[in-house]
Amino acid sequence: MEDKPIVTATGNQQVSNSPEADNSVLEIWGRHPLTGHVTVSGAKNSALVVMAGVLLCSQPCRLRNIPNLVDVERMAAVLTALGVKIKREADFLDLDPSDISHTRAPYDIVSRLRASFFVIGPLLARMGVARIPLPGGCAIGARPVELHVRGLQAMGADVQIEHGTVHACIPGIRKRLQGANIYLDYPSVGATETLMMAATLAEGETVIDNAAQEPEVADLANFCRAMGARIRGVGTKTLTISGVPSLHSTDYAIVPDRVEAGTFLIAGAITHSKISLSPVVPEHLGAVIAKLQEAGSQVVVESPNRIALIPGAEIQATDIQTLPYPGFPTDMQAQFMALMTLSNGNSMLTETVFENRLRHVAEFSRMGANIRVTGNCAVIQGVPMLSGAPVMATDLRASAALVLAGLGAHGKTVMSGLQHLDRGYEQLEQKLTKLGARITRLEGSAAQAAAESEELTPTELSV
Ligand code: EPZ
Repeated sequence: MEDKPIVTATGNQQVSNSPEADNSVLEIWGRHPLTGHVTVSGAKNSALVVMAGVLLCSQPCRLRNIPNLVDVERMAAVLTALGVKIKREADFLDLDPSDISHTRAPYDIVSRLRASFFVIGPLLARMGVARIPLPGGCAIGARPVELHVRGLQAMGADVQIEHGTVHACIPGIRKRLQGANIYLDYPSVGATETLMMAATLAEGETVIDNAAQEPEVADLANFCRAMGARIRGVGTKTLTISGVPSLHSTDYAIVPDRVEAGTFLIAGAITHSKISLSPVVPEHLGAVIAKLQEAGSQVVVESPNRIALIPGAEIQATDIQTLPYPGFPTDMQAQFMALMTLSNGNSMLTETVFENRLRHVAEFSRMGANIRVTGNCAVIQGVPMLSGAPVMATDLRASAALVLAGLGAHGKTVMSGLQHLDRGYEQLEQKLTKLGARITRLEGSAAQAAAESEELTPTELSV
């Protein structure tokens, strides 16, 4: 009997992260020119933290431009477990946090989404207590949370870590966190977001110095301000939050996904195609646009929320170093490396944000790329061509980068590990197909056959 579609916490049919997704593959035939326009979805890294931020409010909120992603479904599951009522309509989510019935996030759901940890700040500030399993590490690094914990302690919280769970509470008869001056040793996006959210309901003023300046942090700040929070310095490295007793409902649209937009820009560059994208916020892509121009492409701002990529005759070798915003984003590192594998020279790519975010190198090498890794630095010697091959995605951005490499390679690439891709990209293959790419998602026996077949590549066929 046909399995009924899995309906998720948002009342949505589950996006492809059913068990089959782990066996499905993307089959990509490379070197097809792309053309046309692609619509960019809402930012995953805004959606997740803004959804958590709804816990700060005791009235219903409406969030717009929320992408349909596995990670969004997982965050919705965490919030539902805490008592939030959630309903997805067309392109918005209605969330009613008025009756928080639990303050412990369930391990089985938290363990599948690191970003679940974002609920600790709002839950503690609103309810006075929060018990959240430690998010643990992932493919790209250990992902510690000591900056979050130390900041909450500075605001008067009692935080203990026992048996893999963070137990946080506001001690004594106080019912609110206390404003504090906090300096972050590192401009951590998550720590900035946790502490900013917690501070919105604290008693007094909190200053967060050396705060992260990523656009998603500013988006969260603007969402909190839309609920009545008092936050100054949005978009700078010093945030000043004056606590208020409560926050009110709002209807808020999140920003477009700058990482998805950057990924599509590179799809154009690697296939030597002119494509346009919207909606985008061009200044969110400053470093990416600058580096793509250095690499020989032109990026034209066609209107305040629309850009186009015009490829150069050659892909110029270009060095990058990932840095906190406004530096080159670590979430675009793997995708840019895909482009550099086909450049006309040698590029040096240094990953300074995460300690283990070069695992895609081995997969690129299977496609004929020439890359040497020393520590957190990769030296890429451009090659005239990549050859399609069976490859395995290791993490979210690596999976997108392998799709880009497949688009630029001769012949067929079969990518498995789609559970990584579906976490962060909404309908990637449909959007690429609309641009003219030859890319198909195969499941079950078709996936097995594609992965094992030794079909001749179109190039071999054409000789
Ligand atoms: C956010 O992760 C994003 N995730 C990441 O995107 C992104 O790569 C990262 O920011 C950097 O921009 C979401 O927003 C859901 P960090 P986050 O805290 O908050 C260290 C993607 O692909 N650190 O800025 O976890 C940490 O180990 C994902 O969409 C501490 O040492 O990033 C890392 O080396 C991947 N102690 C560095 O800071 C702490 O307490 C940056 O981490 C916190 C962080």
